[in-house]
Amino acid sequence: MARITNGLATSHVPAIGVAMDLGKTDEPYWQPVFAGYDWTRQWLAQTKPDVIILVYNDHASAFDMKIIPTFAIGCGERFKPADEGWGPRPVPDVIGHPELAWHIAQSLILDEFDMTIINEMDVDHGLTVPLSACFGALPEWPAKVIPLAVNVVTYPPPSGNRCWALGEAIARAVASFPEDLNVQVWGTGGMSHQIQGPRAGLINREWDNRFLDGMVGDSDHLRRIPHIEYLRETGSEGIEMVMWLIMRGALGRATRALHRHYHVPASNTAVGHIVLEPVT
Ligand code: DHB
Ligand code: FE
Repeated sequence: MARITNGLATSHVPAIGVAMDLGKTDEPYWQPVFAGYDWTRQWLAQTKPDVIILVYNDHASAFDMKIIPTFAIGCGERFKPADEGWGPRPVPDVIGHPELAWHIAQSLILDEFDMTIINEMDVDHGLTVPLSACFGALPEWPAKVIPLAVNVVTYPPPSGNRCWALGEAIARAVASFPEDLNVQVWGTGGMSHQIQGPRAGLINREWDNRFLDGMVGDSDHLRRIPHIEYLRETGSEGIEMVMWLIMRGALGRATRALHRHYHVPASNTAVGHIVLEPVT
């Protein structure tokens, strides 16, 4: 049977991808950001996930005001890096896992999560930057990826509690797939950041670190954080962190942390990263 072995969360700051693509990772500004991913690159080389369910948000690259799916699952064979205005990033295409993705879509919809099924879409920094940060620059990605896009750009985003419940339903879906697959769930985005308006540049280290603390153990209180708290305490883009709760919900009752990293600054954003293991 397929099984979810681990969860991982990371910020998806676009400038991290640009720093890699332009060979700037050893510069003093970037070195401490990338140092936090060294452990993860070695760990991923050892644990070798077959498939990553990668929870991210599109930033008006594949979707715009014409269509705003709350939860969308990529069921296609492959997904190209999106052109976000400067041409597509020079990273490999993302190879999907249509059999598992369709199985998850069917299981989720029959489990009363009304997913949007997407067979064709380009994937932006929300998805490609976590792959780059965690795997490094490679000619092809070493795992299949099922993109799971969440609307956190246009009000209203889904609640943290709903995201957690979706994660639980994803775990049920994966557990009922007959092939023996090592599956990881990644949640991306955050941590505190606001990239527009009078509070642009807002960072809240204390709140972010409490959220990282909360990811470990039973984490139940994180489900109850209302949208207004993310907005007030972590800036307008901090709401991306509800996507971490899909990953956390998929890991079950309790977790322990294998690795944790937090660094400010990276562009306008507090970079947070955690690798989790379910505790049964
Ligand atoms: C920045 C961070 C993001 O998460 C994003 O999607 C876009 C920009 C930034 O820090 O500039
Ligand atoms: Fe973002």
